Amino acid sequence: MIPPTWLITGASRGIGFHIAKAALDAGSNVVVTARNGETLRDAFAAHGDQCLALAHDASQTSESTSIIQRARDVFNEVDVLVLNAGQGMLAALEDTDEARERALFDLLYHGPVSMIRAVLPHMRARGQGHIVAIGAAATHGNYAGFSSYGAAKAAMECACEALQAEVKPFGIRVSVAIPGPFRTDFISKAESSKTDAYAASVGRFGTVLERMNGRQPGDPARLGTLIVDQVHSGTLPFRFPLGAYAVKKLRDRGAQFQREADAFAEAAKSADFPA
Ligand SMILES: NC(=O)c1ccc[n+]([C@@H]2O[C@H](COP(=O)([O-])OP(=O)(O)OC[C@H]3O[C@@H](n4cnc5c(N)ncnc54)[C@H](OP(=O)(O)O)[C@@H]3O)[C@@H](O)[C@H]2O)c1
Repeated sequence: MIPPTWLITGASRGIGFHIAKAALDAGSNVVVTARNGETLRDAFAAHGDQCLALAHDASQTSESTSIIQRARDVFNEVDVLVLNAGQGMLAALEDTDEARERALFDLLYHGPVSMIRAVLPHMRARGQGHIVAIGAAATHGNYAGFSSYGAAKAAMECACEALQAEVKPFGIRVSVAIPGPFRTDFISKAESSKTDAYAASVGRFGTVLERMNGRQPGDPARLGTLIVDQVHSGTLPFRFPLGAYAVKKLRDRGAQFQREADAFAEAAKSADFPA
């Protein structure tokens, strides 16, 4: 079997880098993107023609078609699209600057969606393809200070849920990763604005993150190998947790929804027309 061609956004370091590395090690051709093309080329220099590095700001929707086209020009097709580029933002909802909030949605929602729109006509024509979005555990129980980050990731996950129903008949798969804390630059690169008024909530969560930084239980290299193995074997499900923390979070969320639905079931049914 010819290994599929991957395109991974935000692959200069962290999770994206390790997914790209694992795909290259498995024999795939890989297109990697990040904002600084030179850093990216240096990071993958050892892989020669097997890797195409393209400078791309993932929040720029206008560039998505040309990125997909450049990938196809070199490797014919994109079989697996990984929407990984991202950044955190820690701020109380009240303090969040609207322009920053919109920029975060451009990076975590509008940009990835535009990449999907650019790749889908080709995947549909061939009747195959796999789109993998890197989501966040925040979408299944959010934290003080993560309103914009969690909301943008939740929007993407929700869009992917609809997308998978839309593209399944074409033979295209969609998956959303729910990572717990992984040892990358995610915490140190997150934008942060903490105010005294929110010290007890946002400030406290910021301190938890700072203390966790460098000691996160998740290993991005193992994550990369896991995702590549599962994609190549066709076994990656739609939604999947990464790391024990995320497994617990999804289980707790499921149990919480069950309790909430049960507690309000009779009242909820009373809002229907009588049968
Ligand atoms: N690590 C965690 O604990 C964790 C948990 C849940 C979800 N995630 C998600 O996992 C994904 C990867 O994060 P990470 O942990 O690997 O963090 P990271 O080490 O900071 O890496 C982030 C990557 O995204 C790229 N990126 C950021 N802004 C970009 C932009 N505007 N355009 C293009 N590329 C951009 C960065 O490249 P350049 O800066 O070179 O452009 C870098 O390659 C993110 O979507 C994040 O939200 C991470």
